[in-house]
Amino acid sequence: MPLPKAELHLHIEGTLEPELAFELAARNGVELPYATTDALREAYRFEDLQSFLNLYYELMAVLRTERDFEDLANAYLARAAAQGVRHAEIFFDPQAHIARGVGMGTVVEGLSRALDRSEENHGVSTHLILCFLRDESAESALATLDAAKPYLDRIIGVGLDSAEVGHPPVKFREVYETAAALGLRRVAHAGEEGPPEYITEALDILGVERVDHGLRCMESPDLVARLARDRVPLTLCPLSNVRLRTVDTLADHPLPAMLEAGLLCTVNSDDPAYFGGYADDNFTAVREALGLSEERLRELARNSFLASFLDDDEEKRAG
Ligand code: ADE
Ligand code: ZN
Repeated sequence: MPLPKAELHLHIEGTLEPELAFELAARNGVELPYATTDALREAYRFEDLQSFLNLYYELMAVLRTERDFEDLANAYLARAAAQGVRHAEIFFDPQAHIARGVGMGTVVEGLSRALDRSEENHGVSTHLILCFLRDESAESALATLDAAKPYLDRIIGVGLDSAEVGHPPVKFREVYETAAALGLRRVAHAGEEGPPEYITEALDILGVERVDHGLRCMESPDLVARLARDRVPLTLCPLSNVRLRTVDTLADHPLPAMLEAGLLCTVNSDDPAYFGGYADDNFTAVREALGLSEERLRELARNSFLASFLDDDEEKRAG
């Protein structure tokens, strides 16, 4: 039986499995530049974050209607439930859809159709986190936040993702101030490919409560000490780090050193359809490659609930 856990770093668009991509392409009359699901899977060899993002955005072309987003979320929730996920805080990238003429309402209403019935259908509670694309402008992010205003009862917080290097958190200062004023929780990807300074900026300028990835904090002992002292959660994604070559092999992953340093680490799947594993696959992979003890694995599962945006009562019920 997989350990009960919360998943805190999961891009719903990154759960699009090749089979569903082809099904949605046929349903919507979209032509994919791959002949078969195997040919598509062959393309899943990434050099870095950008080479992955190119395919990730290309495949989104098949997502067009509310029903597509509902089907996508239901497929993820079924898989997550089978892997012991009891609670999921799900990222989505509205700008990537709006740019293709698919509106905020289609995305949020479609996802909500699956999320609203998730506890009943899958035994998984959910929150939705709207992510801004950091390689787009701050003005575009502000317009996106504005477009989300009719749906804020469905959205718990905001995040920041896409190509990191050259797009420091400070670029989104005003957007995050506006989000905070709207009562939204704040997280951001930082220190995946970008330097430790981006993590510090995300904390000091954006006021984030969790850091997504945060891997490169290990280059700064002062930052590690701060993150450990303040119990700032890090949402690590080990299989993603190997596929995007931020670590050479899983055996080189700094997770054990991070736990030793007292960091509040969690283990998540990021874009599981692309990186070869869902939540528990990541737990199994780090157990096998890094020799983590059962006690450490239980600590990681416990951390996932502690670091979630569930309140204390909800946390107890889920965990
Ligand atoms: N969007 C989807 N997955 C991502 C990742 N790992 N880093 C940044 N942006 C992303
Ligand atoms: Zn991510």
